[in-house]
Amino acid sequence: MTEPFSTLAVIGAGTMGRGIAQLAAQRGLEARLFDVSTAQVERAIGDVTAQLDRLVAKGKLTEGDKASTLARLAPTSDLSTACGGAAVVIEAAPESMDLKVKLFGEIRELSPAEALLGSNTSSLSITEIGQRAGVPDRIVGLHFFNPPPVMPLLEIVRGLSTSDSTVDRARALALELGKDAIVVQDFPGFATSRLGVILGAEAIRMLEAGVASAEDIDRAMKLGYRHPMGPLELTDLVGLDVRLAILDHLHRELGEQFRPPALLRQMVRAGRLGKKVGLGFYRWTDEGPRPAE
Ligand code: CAA
Repeated sequence: MTEPFSTLAVIGAGTMGRGIAQLAAQRGLEARLFDVSTAQVERAIGDVTAQLDRLVAKGKLTEGDKASTLARLAPTSDLSTACGGAAVVIEAAPESMDLKVKLFGEIRELSPAEALLGSNTSSLSITEIGQRAGVPDRIVGLHFFNPPPVMPLLEIVRGLSTSDSTVDRARALALELGKDAIVVQDFPGFATSRLGVILGAEAIRMLEAGVASAEDIDRAMKLGYRHPMGPLELTDLVGLDVRLAILDHLHRELGEQFRPPALLRQMVRAGRLGKKVGLGFYRWTDEGPRPAE
């Protein structure tokens, strides 16, 4: 029987970090949201507030619950404030091994020795992060899906040296956050990203080849396969830079089938990163995605 997780710190206030913090606060945990950029943390709180407003407008959340959720959400740009006394620390920084190793080295110093340490990485090796940061047994992959408050899965990734008790605590956290957990071994791309990025990359190659328009490729998968979103729209939701980083990594680790399409790299160079910047394969409006040109 593990103690409930009263305080959760999220390191990185990008798309995933802010969603994980929102989820935790909605589930009654004290959620601290850290980012080195104060502007990024402020944007994140604005974004979470807007999401909660939408839930209130739909009658899914009361004004009182919205206020108490926001009261449980503490933004900070000080890493020791975020990690001090936290029962679990979840890193949701960009997909860079060196950055994650550096962050976990600091998190190890600043958080309680018994804190559960999780990385939201979509593809990088938990074993390597843990070994290089000096937390091989305490770290586990806690892979959430966008949007974190909605998607039911938590993919728990077990590094080679992750202890049984760390995995048990990760399962307990999933339960507390209302997620269904699967436990997978630490292999590049785990059980989800490996399949997810292949579909997205193939859709981009089809667009490059002129097989059909972006809208029709997406419509094909929505109407023909009942996917909730088409693969190009989903790439916009996840972020083109995020998808490119995953593909680059899996290309190195697993081979040719993961080579990123040239169009994807070109769009990232052009700053067309998807929904978070308002432009990717679609132009994102308040009413949803519209054709980009
Ligand atoms: N917070 C809380 N609730 C939210 C929310 C948020 N941030 N965003 C959406 N919701 C809720 C809405 O309120 C709505 O609730 P009800 O059904 O109770 O009314 C529900 O989610 C659906 O939202 P919408 O009606 O706005 O939109 P939708 O019906 O078109 O669904 C979607 C949107 C849930 C995103 C759906 O299109 C979907 O499931 N898409 C696929 C998403 C997916 O595959 N994600 C995984 C990406 S891969 C990844 O994240 C991992 C990685 O490593 C890169």
